[in-house]
Amino acid sequence: MLDQIKDLAEKLAPRLIEIRRHLHSHPELSGQEYQTATYVAGVLSSCGIQVRESVGKTGVVGELNASVGDRRLAIRTDMDALPIAERTGLDFASRQPGVMHACGHDVHTTVGLGTAMVLSQLGEAFPGSIRFLFQPAEEIARGASWMVADGAMEGVNAVLSLHVFPTIPAGSVGVRYGTLTAAADDLRIVIIGESGHGARPHEAKDAIWIAAQVITSLQQAICRTQNPLRPVVLTIGKMTGGRAPNVIADRVEMLGTVRSLHPETHTNLPQWIERIVTNICQTYGASCEVEYKRGVPGVQNDTGLTQLLEAAAKEAWGSDRVTILLEPSLGAEDFSLYLQHAPGAMFRLGVGHHDKPNYPLHHPQFDVDESAIVTGVVTMAYAAYKYWQHAGEKGIGHRA
Ligand code: NI
Repeated sequence: MLDQIKDLAEKLAPRLIEIRRHLHSHPELSGQEYQTATYVAGVLSSCGIQVRESVGKTGVVGELNASVGDRRLAIRTDMDALPIAERTGLDFASRQPGVMHACGHDVHTTVGLGTAMVLSQLGEAFPGSIRFLFQPAEEIARGASWMVADGAMEGVNAVLSLHVFPTIPAGSVGVRYGTLTAAADDLRIVIIGESGHGARPHEAKDAIWIAAQVITSLQQAICRTQNPLRPVVLTIGKMTGGRAPNVIADRVEMLGTVRSLHPETHTNLPQWIERIVTNICQTYGASCEVEYKRGVPGVQNDTGLTQLLEAAAKEAWGSDRVTILLEPSLGAEDFSLYLQHAPGAMFRLGVGHHDKPNYPLHHPQFDVDESAIVTGVVTMAYAAYKYWQHAGEKGIGHRA
């Protein structure tokens, strides 16, 4: 079966590159993936796959062998691009000014379509039930919740996904057991002091100075009160306040992001931050508002499904092309929202060029080695085959 999947993927390679380049030239921002969705639906239909459009606003769902067996595997890919002006100089660079597939979601969508093509072409040799989820708006961490709200996970027993990774060379894949990405939450702090003359600080409550204390204390408190083996990153990315050089500021607003890896830390963070900020403000007679908004939880890869991905990749490419990732990422990924409904696992697809510099994700010169597309399709299709083959076995896609 592996040889058959590899042959089909190799034969499809020119078509897959054409698809990827089309998507790359026509990027669409989160929640506006109208043309992409129509295009994806067209390709799926041409493979004889049942298609539902407008699932999760601009999402697309494809069903292969929908009524077969008692288990269903979902394969999730995301379709949106970023508000970045592309500077790759490629022939097929973005034709949409200021919008770019700088996170490789064009490759993800292509791998999803390629996997659908390969599995549908296997015909009766593959009687497994697969639901393809083409998700919008991953970059703003909304699309997964839209898809789930529209029933995308109903009747799904397990879910697989992938993300490109430029630091892994094309031809290789990375798998990770346990935590893959961080929980990411939003923080807003407002400090309310009292205005006064810049020369007479004793008559005012300086919100800018108090804000400086708050930022410094939060960073120090992470080092001295949080378990260093359970990392927390708190970044204040935007700060506004003050009126004039000689007027003491009465109000400062700070916006930030908070990342954490351990579920217990994640639970405790809101009260912990609020206590520190409130105490500092009280000490200096200011008041404050602390708003902690939960974003997405961390991705926790299921052990059985990660073993399945590892085994599929090793059989397909050999052990030396499969990296077991030892570190999680503090990036966020809304794939975690599907995992509240079924166990799942996401792998890293290497897209690094072997012969030229690789730029990071979200960089205006980010570019992939397109040979990775076949690697992604074969890994995903063969993992899907193995899932079906082992369906019902203990440990595969069952929560421990
Ligand atoms: Ni991404």
